[in-house]
Amino acid sequence: MTERTTTTTELAAGPSAAATSAGPLIEVRDVRKTFSVRRRAGRFRRTRSEVHAVAGLSFEVAAGEMVGYIGPNGAGKSTTIKMLTGILVPTAGTLRVAGIEPSRERIRLARRIGVVFGQRTTLWWDLPLRDSFGLLRRIYRIPDARYRENLDHYVGLLELGPLLDVPVRQLSLGQRMRGDIAAALLHDPEVVYLDEPTIGLDIVSKAKVREFLRDLNRERGTTVLLTTHDLTDIEQLCSRVMVIDHGRVMYDGSLTGLHGLDGLGGSERTLVVDLAEPGPPIEVAGASVVRVDGPRQWLAFPAATSAAPLVASIAARYPLADLSIQEPAIESVIARMYAAGGDVSGA
Ligand SMILES: Nc1ncnc2c1ncn2[C@@H]1O[C@H](COP(=O)(O)OP(=O)(O)O)[C@@H](O)[C@H]1O
Ligand SMILES: [Mg+2]
Repeated sequence: MTERTTTTTELAAGPSAAATSAGPLIEVRDVRKTFSVRRRAGRFRRTRSEVHAVAGLSFEVAAGEMVGYIGPNGAGKSTTIKMLTGILVPTAGTLRVAGIEPSRERIRLARRIGVVFGQRTTLWWDLPLRDSFGLLRRIYRIPDARYRENLDHYVGLLELGPLLDVPVRQLSLGQRMRGDIAAALLHDPEVVYLDEPTIGLDIVSKAKVREFLRDLNRERGTTVLLTTHDLTDIEQLCSRVMVIDHGRVMYDGSLTGLHGLDGLGGSERTLVVDLAEPGPPIEVAGASVVRVDGPRQWLAFPAATSAAPLVASIAARYPLADLSIQEPAIESVIARMYAAGGDVSGA
């Protein structure tokens, strides 16, 4: 087991000198992480096998970026984040965050980064939020004025005021998550990793968390690496998305580029046409009717082509009442990508 836990004394003893670095804020080069697991094989026998959680991963993130890090269960997302915080030591390859090698200088790095694990709180279960924050102030040796300013700022934005004196175990999941996010930011980290911060949250809490993260990135310039199952998070927050599977990057580029990938047999958009009255399926070059419901018809056409000529030729020959275009659901694009398997280059 190579996982470690950070203790209060370790953190307090760490040097406070901040390294300055040129180049990307996060640098991951040919990183591998292999777990050796023992499995039962029959009643008494056990066999060793290897799990390649991360299998040759390379990417860079520049300061100020907000990057979505997505992939199916078991893809290696959390393992990546644990290596980027220094909790896990890579089997091979190199990682640098703000010029620091995380597993070698985990304590020094801790002052520069913030981490939120959606499935596990970093707060003290039995303490009121206020006391958890106070402990973090001492652990990170946050100067008094700075602490008060940040506390006010985040308590206000995350609407934590009425919750400060409530023990963490009595908070709802959404309240606790907002507390965790504030806790990760009190020491002014340059980069935050959020591993499934919206998991299990209701729609209102999700929206609050998203709005908060967007402002944090825009206003403070904080670099954000966001892992999520909820692709709406990505659509609303990240201009760059990395899709990983089996511990490798399968796609690194824009969300729109992901929609328009040719290597996936071309994803399609849908033109929704409301005719003045029900009629036979529309016949037009470059699109095909996939569904008819009374006067409404759905026509699929390649995502990469413009809808304008299509709309013009339909309008010239059919009496239109209304018309709209549906973008492909990002879920279906990604499902196709996983099905396609191999690497697909990014936009
Ligand atoms: N401590 C561990 N010991 C053994 N296998 C692990 C350990 N942590 C993760 N794995 C395995 O590594 C793979 C990647 O896991 P993880 O990084 O948690 O994926 P994700 O966060 O993308 O769902 C999975 O197959 C998981 O079972
Ligand atoms: Mg995970």
